Amino acid sequence: MAQVSGIAEGQTPNPKSTSKSITLRIARFNPTHDGERSFMDFTIPYERWTTVLEAILEVKKHFDHSIAVRYSCRQATCGSCGMIINGKPRLACFTKISELDSDTVTVEPMNNFPIIRDLAVRFERLFDSHHKIKPFLMRDDSEITSNEKEFLQSPEELEQYIQFANCIKCGLCNSACPTMATDSSFIGPQALAQAYRYVADSRDKGKDSRLKIIDESHGIWRCHFAGSCSQVCPKGVDPAMGIQFLRGYLLGFRS
Ligand code: SF4
Ligand code: FES
Repeated sequence: MAQVSGIAEGQTPNPKSTSKSITLRIARFNPTHDGERSFMDFTIPYERWTTVLEAILEVKKHFDHSIAVRYSCRQATCGSCGMIINGKPRLACFTKISELDSDTVTVEPMNNFPIIRDLAVRFERLFDSHHKIKPFLMRDDSEITSNEKEFLQSPEELEQYIQFANCIKCGLCNSACPTMATDSSFIGPQALAQAYRYVADSRDKGKDSRLKIIDESHGIWRCHFAGSCSQVCPKGVDPAMGIQFLRGYLLGFRS
């Protein structure tokens, strides 16, 4: 385990700074030659508004640029920076160090995803499952070629699914799901929530085909309602509720 201080060579500490320091523990693992995960510790100053992603990028900038981490928007929009922060799946760009209330911040790759290196994981399983549920509005060919330009819906109809349209495909729900950990073919809460998003859209005509896709041995019935997916979602999507609603269609309680 490496221990490195947070004031880089050539930097002058700001005497007016009110910052405190934390120990940032970063998981290191390269599957091509490492037998097990190790950790590197860095002492990093932070302000009230410093995010975990900013702290990781400080380490990359001043101490070890080889640390692998995925990010892009830095504003909880692209879904790239999911990781385990102090034991819980979170977005690194949306998690302030000051809110963690801990002197040590440990960052690890998301669970239930193959590791590329360090904090970066592969998303193929998530996107394959997402693609499987046909994440687009389905209409009859005759309707698409008609002169009708818009398929209008009421505010009440919009309300049925709009919460589920907020998914940014960050994968935190799949990382938290215990069934994902035990069934490598389980479709997962992210894809199920998106199946509901389209099934509940009054403009869509693909309900029967989507319900058929999720009604199989590694589909919706594998979920046993741990509820952890909804607890970690940073966008309030609530996959567990979507799964309940989908079961309502399959059991004939909804139409
Ligand atoms: S449902 Fe929430 S946690 Fe899951 S991928 Fe979408 S935004 Fe992320
Ligand atoms: S960097 Fe885009 S969600 Fe965090």
